[in-house]
Amino acid sequence: MIKEDKELISKIKELKKKRNAIILVHNYQLPEVQDIADFRGDSLELSRMAAKTDAKVIVFCGVYFMAETASILSPDKLVVMPDTSAGCPMANMMNANDLKKLKAQHPDAVALGYVNTSAEVKAELDYCCTSTNAIAVINALGDKKEIIFVPDKYLADYVSKKTGRKLITWHGFCPTHVKILPEDLKREKKFHPKAKVMVHPECLPNVVELADAVLSTSQMAKYAKESPAKEFIVGTEAGLLYRLKQDNPDKEFYLASERAVCPNMKRTTQEKVLWVLQELKNEVKVPDHIRKKARLAIDRMLAIV
Ligand code: 13P
Ligand code: SF4
Repeated sequence: MIKEDKELISKIKELKKKRNAIILVHNYQLPEVQDIADFRGDSLELSRMAAKTDAKVIVFCGVYFMAETASILSPDKLVVMPDTSAGCPMANMMNANDLKKLKAQHPDAVALGYVNTSAEVKAELDYCCTSTNAIAVINALGDKKEIIFVPDKYLADYVSKKTGRKLITWHGFCPTHVKILPEDLKREKKFHPKAKVMVHPECLPNVVELADAVLSTSQMAKYAKESPAKEFIVGTEAGLLYRLKQDNPDKEFYLASERAVCPNMKRTTQEKVLWVLQELKNEVKVPDHIRKKARLAIDRMLAIV
C-alpha cells in the first residue's frame, strides 16, 4: 500500500472546489491518480461524463485523444491535461491525410473509426466507436455499404469476426496490448485453472481466441463484479488491476503479462494534477472547423448506444 500524501490531496480538493473543476480519470491511470478521481471510467464513460458535467474546468487524466474528445463534446469548458505529452501511439499511427486517401480508394464506404484517433482524423469519420460499442455501431450500419474501420487492425479483426462484416482496415495497433502473448495466458491458466480469462479487444487475435470474455476496461470491472468466479486472469494494461482489486476485495486478479504497461498512461501524477489546477495551463482545445465535423461522428455513435 502506497502512503497517501494527505497534504497534497487536500490542496487538490480545495483548489478543485475553487476552480469548479472535475477530475476525470481513465481506468489505466496510476493508483494515486485513481484515488483523486471524481469519476473513473473507460473511454466511452469519460466522453459521456465530459458531455454532461456542469463543472467549468475538466482536468483530464488519461491520454491526449481522450482530452480532445472531452473538448469536442464540451467546447465551452476549459479542458486541461496534467501532462500533454501523454499521447496514444496507436492514435498517432494514422493522420487525416492517410484517412482521406483510404476514403478516396473506397468512395462508397462508410468511415468508422475507433475513439483512439486524433480530432483531425475524427473530423474525416462518419461514425466513431469505442471498444464497448464497436459491434453495436457496425450492426446499426445495416448491410448495404462497405465499411472502413481504423486505425486498430486487431480490434477490426475481432469486430469483423463478431459481426460477419468484411472491413477495410488500417495497420494500427496498441504497442502495449500486443505485448500480451498466448503463452502468457496459457501459463496463467495452468497456475490458476479455475480463473476466468478476460482480455481487451486490442489484444492479438490468438490471445482473444483464448479468452472467456472480450471486454473494454469498464466492462471488465462489471464482469468481475457480477461473475460468480473468484479468480480472473486479466489481459489488458496493468493499471486496471488497482480498480479490480479495490472493487472486489474477496476475489483474486492475475495480470496476464507484467509487460502490459502503457507508459503514456503513467505520466500523470498527483503533483501534476495540483500544478494544472494552480496554473490552468496545458489547455486542450480543438479548432472550431475540426471540432464541428468531429462532433458529428461522436454524436452519431452516442445516438446509437
Ligand atoms: P477502454 O475504452 O476499454 O477504456 O480502452 C481505452 C484504451 O486506450 C485501451 O487501450
Ligand atoms: Fe493507446 Fe494502447 Fe496506451 Fe490505450 S494502452 S492509450 S491504445 S497505447
